[in-house]
Amino acid sequence: MTMLEIRDLHKEYRSGGTTLHALDGVSTSLDAGRTLAVVGESGSGKSTLGSIVAGLETATSGSVVIDGTPIDRRAFRGPLRRRVQTVFQSPLQSLNAKFRVETTLAEPLRLLLGMSRTDASRRVDELLDAVHLPRELRYRRPGELSGGQQQRVAIARALAPEPDLVVLDEPTSGLDQSIRGRIVNLLRELQAERGLSYVFITHDIDVAQAIAHDVIVMQHGRIVEEGDRSVLRAPSDPYTRRLLDAVPTLDPARRRRNLRLESLPPVIVPDTPVDDTQNPHPLDEETAP
Ligand SMILES: Nc1ncnc2c1ncn2[C@@H]1O[C@H](COP(=O)(O)OP(=O)(O)O)[C@@H](O)[C@H]1O
Ligand SMILES: [Mg+2]
Repeated sequence: MTMLEIRDLHKEYRSGGTTLHALDGVSTSLDAGRTLAVVGESGSGKSTLGSIVAGLETATSGSVVIDGTPIDRRAFRGPLRRRVQTVFQSPLQSLNAKFRVETTLAEPLRLLLGMSRTDASRRVDELLDAVHLPRELRYRRPGELSGGQQQRVAIARALAPEPDLVVLDEPTSGLDQSIRGRIVNLLRELQAERGLSYVFITHDIDVAQAIAHDVIVMQHGRIVEEGDRSVLRAPSDPYTRRLLDAVPTLDPARRRRNLRLESLPPVIVPDTPVDDTQNPHPLDEETAP
């Protein structure tokens, strides 16, 4: 089943007398339950593509169809508002600093699923369980959480309205290297459990290899290479090769350290909430109070 179909998408930004083609004829598709990694250098149009799919920007021309619904300004006032969710690089983009975690998580439940206060409160515990955070964290505000914990809350918030498609724009890029693999594992686990489809934007090739089923490589608003994730191992396009060469983590010595992240056919995540006493990596700030 096709979850996302993008045809000949263009996005132009005009300023002064010049026109910038942020997207210049992008076509691709994504089957349900799969992850499309969008990789490319900074400014190649990745976030613009993600923002249009998530209904945060409108295209200049072309079409985006999500599970049979063509998107336009109005589509996101209907069911797509619930069915398509986003996770950003900075969790603080989705978390209100003044709100306790429980308020942040209950809000979409009440607004988008129409739940009662009591039902929403109960569901908050389930959401915290799903992202492996201790339930006591519901009483904290974002400033009282570590970066990894904040991103888990942002993921829980995205999951709250039971979406089908999640657009993740550099969700691991703001996190310490040691935590990236854990968040990738969590996202893979949630995808397997819930059949989610992901548009996963990243400039981190190691992360893309760990999570992608399909890959598009972008440069100057165009797709220069696409295929399954093996294109990241054996790229045919010189730009993709340069991109891979530019990634410091592909250095063999550092690569070995990343093996935990790369060689994870079965998802390895503890099913109990992460807490300090069970943490095998005491330096991991994600579990800090
Ligand atoms: N709101 C905007 N106004 C003008 N130009 C923009 C805007 N958003 C993005 N751009 C430009 O579009 C191009 C693609 O940006 P972006 O999609 O953010 O790339 P990426 O996410 O790959 O770094 C860049 O040249 C960027 O400067
Ligand atoms: Mg970007």
